[in-house]
Amino acid sequence: MAAAPLWTAADFLAATGGEASGDLPDVTGISIDTRTLEKGDAFFAILGDRFDGHDFAKAALEKGASCAVVVDSRAAEFSDAGCVIGVANVLRALEDVGKAARARSSARVIGVTGSVGKTGTKEALKLVLAPSGETYASAASHNNHWGVPLSLSRFPRSADFGIFEMGMNAPGEIGPLSRMVRPHISIITTVEPVHIEFFKSVEAIADAKAEIFEGTEPGGTVLLNRDNLQYKRLAAAAKERGLTVVGFGEHGLAEIKLLNSVCEPGYSAVTASIMGDEVTYKIGAPGRHLVQNSLAVMGAVKLAGGDLARAGMAYGQLHAPKGRGERTLIGEIDHTALLIDESYNANPASMRAAIANLALTPVQAGGRRIAVLGDMLELGDSSRDLHAQVAKEINRVGLDLVFACGSNMAALYEALPPERQGGYAGAAEDLKDSVVGAVRPGDAVMVKGSLGSRMGPIVEALKTRHGVLDEAS
Ligand SMILES: Nc1ncnc2c1ncn2[C@@H]1O[C@H](COP(=O)(O)OP(=O)(O)O)[C@@H](O)[C@H]1O
Ligand SMILES: [Mg+2]
Repeated sequence: MAAAPLWTAADFLAATGGEASGDLPDVTGISIDTRTLEKGDAFFAILGDRFDGHDFAKAALEKGASCAVVVDSRAAEFSDAGCVIGVANVLRALEDVGKAARARSSARVIGVTGSVGKTGTKEALKLVLAPSGETYASAASHNNHWGVPLSLSRFPRSADFGIFEMGMNAPGEIGPLSRMVRPHISIITTVEPVHIEFFKSVEAIADAKAEIFEGTEPGGTVLLNRDNLQYKRLAAAAKERGLTVVGFGEHGLAEIKLLNSVCEPGYSAVTASIMGDEVTYKIGAPGRHLVQNSLAVMGAVKLAGGDLARAGMAYGQLHAPKGRGERTLIGEIDHTALLIDESYNANPASMRAAIANLALTPVQAGGRRIAVLGDMLELGDSSRDLHAQVAKEINRVGLDLVFACGSNMAALYEALPPERQGGYAGAAEDLKDSVVGAVRPGDAVMVKGSLGSRMGPIVEALKTRHGVLDEAS
């Protein structure tokens, strides 16, 4: 028997609330982008920041879309190319399909938000819950006003577990997302001054994260970082809504308590009490921050009815993804340097974590620990201070050399002693050659910056000009 389609034609049409012109086949996937569209996908013509999906609706149908969901007033334009569903508002229709997917699901649903670690936590949950049942998780970092309904609309009816990431740049964004996801278990990884330019204070950020409670199912549980300064504020807000609070961390009162951890260069070993169950597991990627996130992950596994022992086994297979700690050996056999790619994202919390991680990474005899740092963006008025403070951390752990670029990183660079200053440029592009030229066999080099700082090309240049030997563990 063929697997059930994601949506039968009738269920899909009913969920959109629209009207179909022509024969609607079953829908096997959902797409909002013709570049990644697959045959059988329903294409939603979303109005984005730069593009109007309606400009691609015809191409979507020609590429084999089962239908195109478009605004009523333009439905007639595309009906020659295939089945068209006209709706009053395309984004609302996508939300409605997402809500219908959630309504028909009998899965345990986990919602993840927080200032850092959302995607990593979601990916870890996806990995470690899989041995306990069919597990579905949102793709990539799809966590905003279109990403969340898109992820929900793809939620298969058969899934046992569903994991959804929710993000925000401003107050009032997480609430509506959470009401769509309706998690049984909500995780707030941590609260840090990220996107602070849109907020008055860290407390205001905590309040915006707490909006996840608005959609958390009655009787649901929230997992909160017990070691975070905002814990009490968040716990009070959750309790006010009648939710059960479970803290994770090192704190003596944490219900999910770290008992012991060993952070090795390629992995960590953890022993923790997960609400009374003592488990020991290995995390297949390094970093203290991943140990912290793993406590929330294991707590959610237990609360969702997953198998803790199997989850612990699976955790050993975790790999740091590209841009978020991926490790590569560059150079030639017996003359390699270690490259750590952190180019996807940077804020004070993840910067500290990455620097601590580099400090822990062994180098060969004569090798140096080198950080290549681009601006952390969206930090508002205190940005230069927050950058300069990172210099203290670098001096404390004793990194050997720092290359920096961007106007904010200038503050960090100037705060370093001359022997640690490797080079500075206004833009990443102009730093590339000096970094490539400086790295020698035996070194460990970590590249980090906000995506907008464009540090990725430095990583690529290191790879192409030194040569990639192997993916390190
Ligand atoms: N708990 C944490 N504390 C500090 N840094 C973290 C934590 N979790 C993840 N990170 C780091 O933050 C960066 C972004 O991680 P990611 O999981 O993509 O977060 P998000 O989805 O919230 O943007 C990565 O460099 C990662 O190593
Ligand atoms: Mg993310």
